[in-house]
Amino acid sequence: MTEIESKIDEKEQKILHGIPMWPQEKINRFRETLLSWYDIEKRDLPWRKNNDPYRIWVSEIMLQQTRVDTVIPYYLNFMNNFPTIEALANAHEDVLLKAWEGLGYYSRVRNMQKAAQQIMEDYDGEMPKDPKEISKLKGIGPYTTGAIASMAFGLPEPAVDGNVMRVLSRLFEIDADIAKPGNRKIFEAIMRELIDPYKPGDFNQAFMDLGSSICTPKNYHPELSPVKEFNQSYQNGTWDKYPVKSKKKKAKPVYYVGAIIKNAEGAFLLEKRPENGLLANMWTFPLIEEESVTHEAEIKKGTLTGVTDENKTEQVIKNVMAELEAKYAVKPTLMEQPFDEVQHIFSHLKWFVAVYYGQVVKEEEPMFIPENCYWVHPSDFDHYTFPGPQTKMWQSYLSKFNHN
Ligand code: ADE
Repeated sequence: MTEIESKIDEKEQKILHGIPMWPQEKINRFRETLLSWYDIEKRDLPWRKNNDPYRIWVSEIMLQQTRVDTVIPYYLNFMNNFPTIEALANAHEDVLLKAWEGLGYYSRVRNMQKAAQQIMEDYDGEMPKDPKEISKLKGIGPYTTGAIASMAFGLPEPAVDGNVMRVLSRLFEIDADIAKPGNRKIFEAIMRELIDPYKPGDFNQAFMDLGSSICTPKNYHPELSPVKEFNQSYQNGTWDKYPVKSKKKKAKPVYYVGAIIKNAEGAFLLEKRPENGLLANMWTFPLIEEESVTHEAEIKKGTLTGVTDENKTEQVIKNVMAELEAKYAVKPTLMEQPFDEVQHIFSHLKWFVAVYYGQVVKEEEPMFIPENCYWVHPSDFDHYTFPGPQTKMWQSYLSKFNHN
């Protein structure tokens, strides 16, 4: 390369956050190749049937932490129950939470309802088109804004999530840590250059499909990729180094005793959680923080299920009973040992619940239980939203005691 050519090259080559962009001709070929692949291989998904921004919005929120296969039945049920932004805005919270039961991250659906109410008030019930306006809606961040703007309104906006960052870091050999939120802007800048201006929605979705079918985190086979000729890490044999992703902090353990308590009529004691905080307004069997029933010095946290020393077992059970009476006014006959320990991970917490079973005989049933508690027959459980740990406790109970 002559001195002059190299200067021209340097001038023409855009450098974005230290990453050399491809020349326009290569970008054009990449778009064509990726979109042709997408036209043939795109998955037939219910939210791809039309460009309705509401349908796209719901699907994108559901897909944020959950796999496509899991989302589909939830999505169809949700659209049946809340077919319009107005229906979502006016939904009763219990019905809304029930429709989300099993998906987790319940703040997502609560925020979606608040955003629907904002849209009813400020935009006459229509999703705004301007990405700036979209991103002002509750619970809609840059990813969802980009997804709605590109797929519903055909705007060349990037929709960058972890999958897209993985694909891009392999394509361009990007060393930026994709776990660091501050690095998203690097990937967005590249995507703004790459995105097809005529088919931005398809382009974004092609990245998503590539990220979930071929360019997966594990078992990655770059030689099978439709865009392998563009893939720098494949061409340079560095593909196993990308993406750079630091490990998330381990979820903090929290230990509970859970008490499944049945009365003489076959109903179970359920408690509604407070209206704020984790699992707000959802229903669980009584939960007691384990620290209040064990002495840390005597019994290692989280090992209630393994306690064999009779004296300690007796003490623990006495403490559990005392807590149940103080908090719930019930005096059940409890099994001496928990019958299971269920575990559940929330984003940054890991619950360990030692589950006890007990019964309250007719004569011992309290006249009054706390206001946020009910005796509920299992045939009515459908009307109560159960968070993950609760469903696990109930499933375990059914499998161990073979009741329903
Ligand atoms: N993951 C997130 N959004 C998606 C979409 N629209 N299609 C497929 N997978 C997705």
